[in-house]
Amino acid sequence: MQAAISEINSVEDAAKKAVTNTIFSPRFYTTDYEAMNRISVEPVRADWDAMMAEYEGDNNHDHFQRDANFAEEARELAHKMSPELRQEFLDFLVSSLTSEFSGCVLYNEIKRNVSNPDIKKLMEYMARDESRHAGFINSSLKDYGLGIDLGNLKRSKSYTYFKPKYIFYATYLSEKIGYARYIKIFRQLEKHPDKRFHPIFRWFQRWCNDEFRHGESFALIMRANPGLLQGGNVLWIRFFLLAVYATMYVRDHTRPELKQAMGLEPTQYDFDVFRITNEITKQVFPVLLDIDHPAFHRNLDRLYRCAMRADAGKIAGGVVGNLKKAFWSVAGAAVFARMYFIPVKSNILPKSARLAPSW
Ligand SMILES: [Fe+2]
Ligand SMILES: [Fe+2]
Repeated sequence: MQAAISEINSVEDAAKKAVTNTIFSPRFYTTDYEAMNRISVEPVRADWDAMMAEYEGDNNHDHFQRDANFAEEARELAHKMSPELRQEFLDFLVSSLTSEFSGCVLYNEIKRNVSNPDIKKLMEYMARDESRHAGFINSSLKDYGLGIDLGNLKRSKSYTYFKPKYIFYATYLSEKIGYARYIKIFRQLEKHPDKRFHPIFRWFQRWCNDEFRHGESFALIMRANPGLLQGGNVLWIRFFLLAVYATMYVRDHTRPELKQAMGLEPTQYDFDVFRITNEITKQVFPVLLDIDHPAFHRNLDRLYRCAMRADAGKIAGGVVGNLKKAFWSVAGAAVFARMYFIPVKSNILPKSARLAPSW
């Protein structure tokens, strides 16, 4: 089936892609700041203080600067990219930038609106990191004349309200899966430098250690508040795990060239990333998705096909197109619901929550 990503040929296309919300694109969030004020990290104080000392030490303070030949290398390699790869790479840059900036905006807003000193300080550090990440990606978009006006994006993109616990589940997962995605790419290109078609990938290892630490922060918050990991909340954890995994699968399969150029196969890559993420989430979640269940893979493929057909309907437009879009969206939701009921694996939490980025 033909993958469908809308082309980015101008600065307006890039801005439009960043600002538009679809089921599968990164969103901006707001939350309940009063409830954030009531979060206590006392039960994990020793681990918390050690982690805050790492943030304070800021071992990546000098990392997000481009070296002298970055732009030159990017320009030379750009000539070797096929038009399809170029489009998928631009799509990757814009969606990654949107997701980094989404973290930056959310963490900054929480920092501005809470009085809880632990949460405030944490958010300040994480916003610092995400702002560097977003700026670094934007520099590469600017090389193509496609830089995004982040102030404008902040003002014009719509915001989704999430209760703090949903922020914790979703953001924890997106930080950890972000780590797993970047480290898999970094390791692959370390082995096959000839497949590194843009210099930005050389930055991924130290970059994803930031994401790993952001994930650690949410793991500690949840471990300090075990009610978030019990009872009916386990159903929410299952939901977020599946939503994050499925979104990644669909998105990656709409950009097959990008993985192929790196010598990676999208399905294999995604399952490797799921495996790493499952391993990491043992630090905090009482359940893990059974990614080896035959129905899991089969239904991910179905979900991807539904998403593609819904998208084709949307592009076609008109009465028939819209009906197609509605039909395949409902079909996709039904596949998602079926996947939700695939039995999960239970997990006993380790005594200490902290993990090192060792993949
Ligand atoms: Fe980031
Ligand atoms: Fe992050």
